[in-house]
Amino acid sequence: MHLIQEIATAMMSPSKGILAADESQHTMQKRFALIGLEQNSENDRRYRNMLFTTAGIEHYLSGIILHDETIHQNSDNKIPFATLLSNLGILPGIKVDQGLTSLESSPDEKVSIGLEGLADRLEEYYSLGARFTKWRSVISIGDDLPTQDALKKNADVLAEYAEVAQSKKMVPIVEPEVLFDGKHTLARSGEVLRDTLQTLYKALAEHEVTLNAMILKTSMALPGKKSDTPLDPSAIAEETIAALRDTVPADVAGVVFLSGGQMAKQATSNLNAIAKLGVQSWPITFSYSRAIEEPVIATWRGDEANRIAAQNVLLQRLEDNVAARNGIYVPK
Ligand code: G3H
Repeated sequence: MHLIQEIATAMMSPSKGILAADESQHTMQKRFALIGLEQNSENDRRYRNMLFTTAGIEHYLSGIILHDETIHQNSDNKIPFATLLSNLGILPGIKVDQGLTSLESSPDEKVSIGLEGLADRLEEYYSLGARFTKWRSVISIGDDLPTQDALKKNADVLAEYAEVAQSKKMVPIVEPEVLFDGKHTLARSGEVLRDTLQTLYKALAEHEVTLNAMILKTSMALPGKKSDTPLDPSAIAEETIAALRDTVPADVAGVVFLSGGQMAKQATSNLNAIAKLGVQSWPITFSYSRAIEEPVIATWRGDEANRIAAQNVLLQRLEDNVAARNGIYVPK
């Protein structure tokens, strides 16, 4: 498979999703702290080994996003993780942004960094087997946030990244995450999602990014975590799809959702409600990290004796989310 359009299409295979296993060491520290496990490179490797050697994941996953640390690591059987995944027919991807820094014009907001040296890093990742990439920016909702400057600067960085990724024959997953921290309403979240995506697609057009060779990774429109509004999957689905329909061009290869800190089953129910709204111009699936991995880590606890139990939890989370992307998830 050579054309990046074909890779993008394969990433959006029917009845599959993408696992975001690209947590930084800092994030792994937070995840492992919950199970009292020290974060170090070997524990990160053991954890990813447990995930990636789960028998049958290839039936549910078209791709897995790796971190720089992971793409340089091997399985217990000394097989590089990217090779292990490719051998299973799962496309290896790589997170390529290098985190966030405060925006000069508005210190409470962030802009993502990592463009310097990006082309060279992509060449190395390609040689290690990665065929797609991911870049995450964050947009905060507050009384006066987001500012136009935050929307524009993040859109420009994302678009420049996508242009470089495509020039290196790698599919960009472009992720402007609208955070759901705060007290905002569902309608306000939908409005910010619309503004974010409108600004993003303008920047992508300016950078002449090929739409059928890029994937949008987006948040759902959600009422803020601190608002009193209960999470209603149908209302969330309607608001989310309305914002996407207004802003995401029909040519885009696919739309994948992040879970953003929702409870695992909530993220699945919301995806199911989105799928139940019917076929859209672009295929839709999940690209969750926490909503898949949190229950797995809680079962694994760093102990080899829990490996099979944790792998079964992983398979169940994948099966449920694949059912949800097809609109046939029934919560157990
Ligand atoms: O960048 C964020 C990840 O790709 C998705 O993570 O599902 O935990 O929000 P999440």
